Amino acid sequence: MILITGATGNVGRIVVERLAAEGREVRALSRRPEQVQWPFGTRAVAGDLVDAASLGPALDGVESVFLFAAPGLGADFVGAAQAAGVRRVVLLSSGAVDDEAQVQDGPIAARHHEIEQLLRASGMRWTFLRPDTFATNLLPWSYQTKNGDEIHGAYAKAAAPVIHEADIADAAVAALTGEGHDAKAYRLTGPELLTHADQARILGEVLGRPIRYVEIPAEQARAQMSGHVPAPILDDILKLWEQSLERPHPVSADVEAVTGHKARDFRSWAREHAEVF
Ligand SMILES: NC(=O)c1ccc[n+]([C@@H]2O[C@H](COP(=O)([O-])OP(=O)(O)OC[C@H]3O[C@@H](n4cnc5c(N)ncnc54)[C@H](OP(=O)(O)O)[C@@H]3O)[C@@H](O)[C@H]2O)c1
Repeated sequence: MILITGATGNVGRIVVERLAAEGREVRALSRRPEQVQWPFGTRAVAGDLVDAASLGPALDGVESVFLFAAPGLGADFVGAAQAAGVRRVVLLSSGAVDDEAQVQDGPIAARHHEIEQLLRASGMRWTFLRPDTFATNLLPWSYQTKNGDEIHGAYAKAAAPVIHEADIADAAVAALTGEGHDAKAYRLTGPELLTHADQARILGEVLGRPIRYVEIPAEQARAQMSGHVPAPILDDILKLWEQSLERPHPVSADVEAVTGHKARDFRSWAREHAEVF
């Protein structure tokens, strides 16, 4: 039995679909499973990752877990998984984690690094998926594209190898169902480095109208984004964007190494999500 946590999220949702389609025994965790339409064959279960006492029915009989690093996730979860006999954990971590750093730079890296360390010490088999910037982060741009042809945001030249959520899900499925992924940390990226300005241009080409990224001061962008991103994470994101002007994260070949197919490009992602914009 494979337990998928974060099963209603951008990545977990696709992992559930893929595993259910393969006919695997899948259990999907949500804090509100009754409100969700699950793929055929999926058993949904209620539970909160940061309330270990709520996870008994979710973990019962489970061999492998796809783990979403919910804020507050920690030793209680790892203890509950060990006690339930879980043998393998595939963690949705973050490309912000730096193995060389003495101290992780910012709360996003620190939170994911902490759960990684707990899993390394747990005796369970582990694989860490460390994706770079999700293309889904652009979905809030739709509020602007629906009202015009300009995206107002910080750092037009901030660059990232943005990744399609389906590639992260494919890597998760490979690590959950295949061999050779134990004690590996995969840096998952899209196939090319794109600035915010590039992303807006490509989105416009897909939508059939020119979309332009208009740079605004970081402080103004902070106010604009504060409605949908918590303050400490927002500071971290703005800092990562600023750092990327000098030192953008490089493209990695890990998606292809793990999944056997090339990473999907941003244009494909934009086509698949065009109706949102
Ligand atoms: N966005 C990026 O650029 C980026 C880059 C690298 C890494 N990451 C990491 O990837 C993860 C985000 O993945 P995603 O986009 O697939 O997620 P998402 O769409 O934000 O959804 C997360 C899901 O996790 C579940 N969840 C949240 N807290 C929970 C809790 N306490 N107990 C049980 N379930 C809980 C929620 O399910 P219910 O509401 O149904 O309970 C939610 O649907 C984060 O850890 C993030 O740091 C993101």
